[in-house]
Amino acid sequence: MAPRIVTLPGDGIGPEIMAAATRVLDAVGEFSYDEQLMGGVSIETNGTALTDDVLAACKGADAVLLAAVGGPKWDTTDPSKPRPEQGLLGLRKGLGLFANLRPVRPSPALIDASPLKPDRIAGTDLLVVRELTGGIYFGESGRDGDTAHDDCAYSVFEIERIARVGFQSARTKVTSVDKANVLETSRLWREVVTRVHAEEFPDVTLEHLLVDNTAMQLVSQPSSFDVIVTENLFGDILSDEAAMLTGSLGMLPSASVGGGGPGLFEPVHGSAPDIAGTGRANPLAMFLSAALMLRHGFDSEEAAAAVESAVDQALEGGIRTADLGGSHTTEEATVAVLSHL
Ligand code: IPM
Ligand code: MG
Repeated sequence: MAPRIVTLPGDGIGPEIMAAATRVLDAVGEFSYDEQLMGGVSIETNGTALTDDVLAACKGADAVLLAAVGGPKWDTTDPSKPRPEQGLLGLRKGLGLFANLRPVRPSPALIDASPLKPDRIAGTDLLVVRELTGGIYFGESGRDGDTAHDDCAYSVFEIERIARVGFQSARTKVTSVDKANVLETSRLWREVVTRVHAEEFPDVTLEHLLVDNTAMQLVSQPSSFDVIVTENLFGDILSDEAAMLTGSLGMLPSASVGGGGPGLFEPVHGSAPDIAGTGRANPLAMFLSAALMLRHGFDSEEAAAAVESAVDQALEGGIRTADLGGSHTTEEATVAVLSHL
């Protein structure tokens, strides 16, 4: 039977790049799609970013493919108002997706699009393993008079399981990123990662790096990294920085896994409301996210590699959307990728 994918086009450029992604998927296999509302579009219709029904549909699927959520229309600092991002966080938590994988592999054709000099970027091939269901994102938060707080907590169990994903993904080295010189959660993080390493993965090289130092080294010597494993907020920030090494945030895919059920696959970039509807969105991170779904969700390494290679070939053929300094449209980029499948 064809794998069942819940698609969540979401907001902004989301529907455009999702439509392009299903064309690419149809070129490499047979899938059935169940499109659902999540994010701002769901707030408009249902008053909430993620309904119980949509979460249930996602739980029952073989994989969930998400484009992007959010937009200025729903930007608010009022804690009582619904926000599109709550849908995404609810989905990650609801599906138990504690491990977020963000591979950064600059395409050779894009070396010139990187803000870094080519000799710095050469050889960069790293994976950010971000803890996704704990830490400050899901801690107790609130306001008390003119004070606000967001608590950050991590348990040994949460750190152990994400550390294992990091070590299992490593080819040579794991860089565990924390702020152990200041934060108690980071000191526990460092202790637990050190123990998991000694007990279970002594053959992998482990280094500990403070998050500020990591931010610097990501731009000064990105090729020195293999796997970066880190907590939720640090991973959010560092993965945007790492994404830019590829020349554009429009190139970075992600896979969220670990819940025992369907995984969630989504590009790291946002909904780009400023260019929504203009046909100028870069669909490549969306295609690469579909490739991660094929690999991690459906064990179809062959189909995943075919999509990745088609994206590389389209770039080598000169395809550049606006974010990459060119003027190709979403349609042109899609057709170019399809022509290599
Ligand atoms: C990401 C995004 C999300 C996050 C937002 C949209 C809630 O920035 O996936 O990196 O902070 O996790
Ligand atoms: Mg982010």
